[in-house]
Amino acid sequence: MSGVFITFEGGDGAGKTTQMRLLAEALLRAGVEPVTVREPGGTLTGESIREILLGPAHDELTAVAELFLFAASRAQLTAQVIRPALEAGRVVLCDRYADSTTAYQGYGRGLDLGLVRAVNDAATGGLAPDLTFVLDVEPREGVAAASASGPDRMERQEIAFHERVRDGYAAIAAAEPERVRLVARGSVDDVWREVARLAAPVLERIGVRIGEDGR
Ligand code: TYD
Repeated sequence: MSGVFITFEGGDGAGKTTQMRLLAEALLRAGVEPVTVREPGGTLTGESIREILLGPAHDELTAVAELFLFAASRAQLTAQVIRPALEAGRVVLCDRYADSTTAYQGYGRGLDLGLVRAVNDAATGGLAPDLTFVLDVEPREGVAAASASGPDRMERQEIAFHERVRDGYAAIAAAEPERVRLVARGSVDDVWREVARLAAPVLERIGVRIGEDGR
């Protein structure tokens, strides 16, 4: 693969989407148009699956059914969008990827981590990001911020669920410190400086220079 694959992770309301947009803008200033996608979704099939997963109509979903639906959306997105873009040498930015399933369905729902790993591997075909940001957030603050426009099915989970998700992300970062960078809470500007600093060397590998201050 000749491109670079960067993912953004974290609890609800952690500010991933803002940071991903800032990185996309820095890339554009550097003359590189990134491919930006989000999970669940990013394809026609994935967006339909997203409606089932996050819409209000499917409160009866079991944890295993939920696992397979997130994985189905990911399998489609990986095959249809992410792999072809990376093969073409593009920079791909993804708002959530397989680590979300480990954190939410594995740690949050308590599904067997071996099962989650196997399902993730099947969905990604073994593709792993070159760099993953985990933006830390205090669950109460994050869920309150994310639910402001009306909570989705995941945001309506109890706070203990979101605490387990946070612990899950900490474990993921500890297990793969090279790939996964845990970024402490801070102002949008402070977090962005850290994101830019960490992304710069990974992008340099394919000759893309955003500068360590992202400018
Ligand atoms: P979204 O509206 O995209 O929220 P966010 O801005 O927080 O990413 O909703 C995605 C929700 O789905 C979020 O609560 C996390 C959850 N999720 C999982 O539980 N497992 C997964 O594999 C993915 C990709 C997301």
